[in-house]
Amino acid sequence: MLIIGHRGARGLEPENTLRALRRGIECADFVEVDLRLAKDGIPVAIHDATLNRTTDGTGPVKGYTIEELKRLDAGEGETIPTLHEILKLVCDRGAGLVVEIKEPGTEAVIASGLMDLMPDRLILVSFNPESVAMAKRLLPGVQAGLIYSKEADDPVWLARQVQADIILPRWDRVSREVVEQAHKAGLLVAPWTLNTRDDFAEAARLGVDGFATDDPCAARRYLQAS
Ligand code: G3P
Ligand code: CA
Repeated sequence: MLIIGHRGARGLEPENTLRALRRGIECADFVEVDLRLAKDGIPVAIHDATLNRTTDGTGPVKGYTIEELKRLDAGEGETIPTLHEILKLVCDRGAGLVVEIKEPGTEAVIASGLMDLMPDRLILVSFNPESVAMAKRLLPGVQAGLIYSKEADDPVWLARQVQADIILPRWDRVSREVVEQAHKAGLLVAPWTLNTRDDFAEAARLGVDGFATDDPCAARRYLQAS
């Protein structure tokens, strides 16, 4: 099973910072970041649409230029990283990157920033099926995944409709039936967010292909010991 460091390693370091990514890379196969655009169109890693929860700023991320965003504290003295900084880190360390497209309409800018990354080191994911379809059109050689949390009518069918390669269900949405149905349709299954030894054991029992975790080092220790 592939280990994906959720927002880098948000259980260990401030989420979506270079520090969290460095820590995540030590233990995970892939590290995940949430991307949005600054006012001047630069892709940056931050989960929420506003700065309030994770930085010492307030208001919408897209209301500030990259120069203004870089003055903020994103936790323990870290700054909000740009996609450019993230790519340098993952390329230098030979890590894999999962990019979550948080805002519809930002796909082309984000994809153009990812052209230089090796396709097998990159996975593009979104809750928005249209963003997944567009990501696949923009970077056809890259794996794409559909994230979902609510009861969807038929997530496997929807994922196939948008040319996804992976489904990323919320952990409480996963069952043996979902995994079997996805595998039959040629899709990988990578739920989120698994944080306990019981979760890791259950993931193995269900036969998922990978999972996102806030503590990729605990997941690695568990997988190595089992
Ligand atoms: O990998 C999927 C997961 O990251 C989606 O949830 O809200 O943490 O971005 P969220
Ligand atoms: Ca995410």
